[in-house]
Amino acid sequence: MGRAWASAPAKIILFGEHAVVYHRPAIAMPVSQVKATAVAAPGRPDTGIVIHAETIGRQYLLDAAPPEEPLAYTCRSVLRRLKVTQEPDVTLSVRSEIPIASGLGSGAATAAAAAKALARWLGWELSPAQVSAIVYETEKIHHGTPSGIDNTVVAYECPLWFQREQPIEIFQVGIPLSFLIADSGQSSPTRHTVGDVRQRWTENPARYEALFDGVARIVHAAREALEQGDLTRVGKLMVENHALLVEMGVSAPINDALVEAALSAGALGAKLSGGGRGGNNVILVEPRHAQRITEALYAAGARRVLKSTLTT
Ligand code: PMV
Repeated sequence: MGRAWASAPAKIILFGEHAVVYHRPAIAMPVSQVKATAVAAPGRPDTGIVIHAETIGRQYLLDAAPPEEPLAYTCRSVLRRLKVTQEPDVTLSVRSEIPIASGLGSGAATAAAAAKALARWLGWELSPAQVSAIVYETEKIHHGTPSGIDNTVVAYECPLWFQREQPIEIFQVGIPLSFLIADSGQSSPTRHTVGDVRQRWTENPARYEALFDGVARIVHAAREALEQGDLTRVGKLMVENHALLVEMGVSAPINDALVEAALSAGALGAKLSGGGRGGNNVILVEPRHAQRITEALYAAGARRVLKSTLTT
């Protein structure tokens, strides 16, 4: 049997993180410039599945992996869904260029690539809905109570309007969008910020519900502005969304410094993206100003700045 290859993109949340956990809508987009990839290749007879997590330099047998090990969990979900009872002899090598714990969905992308490659090797093409469901189960290990937005966007690989327990909507953007994605170099596991927000929401539900409603209003306005191609308005709404994330307590000085630096250098909008307290900021730019804004971001402490373009 030959080899089977699969990949999955990183993602950014353009609007609505954290509030999305509380059933408000959010807008997310794939970032195909950075990817997770997986290759399934024939293994030695009678070894079963060998997982090679290349990025962290670990290789182990599926049979010997603890139940909560995310890649092992993903493989078991695939086998169960495809009703494969006899473990195949396959080496599944997985690598990711996506920085971990930084709001770019590295865990979800890695699991999606692994699930698709293993299924393909077994002769199955998983649908985006199947990939999303498998990755959602794995995401619960990383996040505890994920909203489902990460697994959905990396599985469908297109801009999405997402709201829990509602059908997902593939999103039409009226104009090409140019983003910079600035890595703060500070990583913060999403389950920590999600857990902190939950605790504060429990202590002060009225305040947090009002913040989430404020985010929902921004997300609705942003959808309209994106569909109309009104980039000035999209940028302003990003800044408003960032202010509410600051009030929720999920920003960090580096996120605020990168927002300030980007806006002072002429960005249309900027905000943290994802779990927060470091991780990545997303910045909406006019392409002719991208270089100047990139330099300002590095000067303000960014570790890496990626360019990402979304065309309609
Ligand atoms: O995986 P991250 O860091 O991009 O965060 C996901 C977005 C949150 O809204 C913070 C959590 C969730 O499950 O939606």
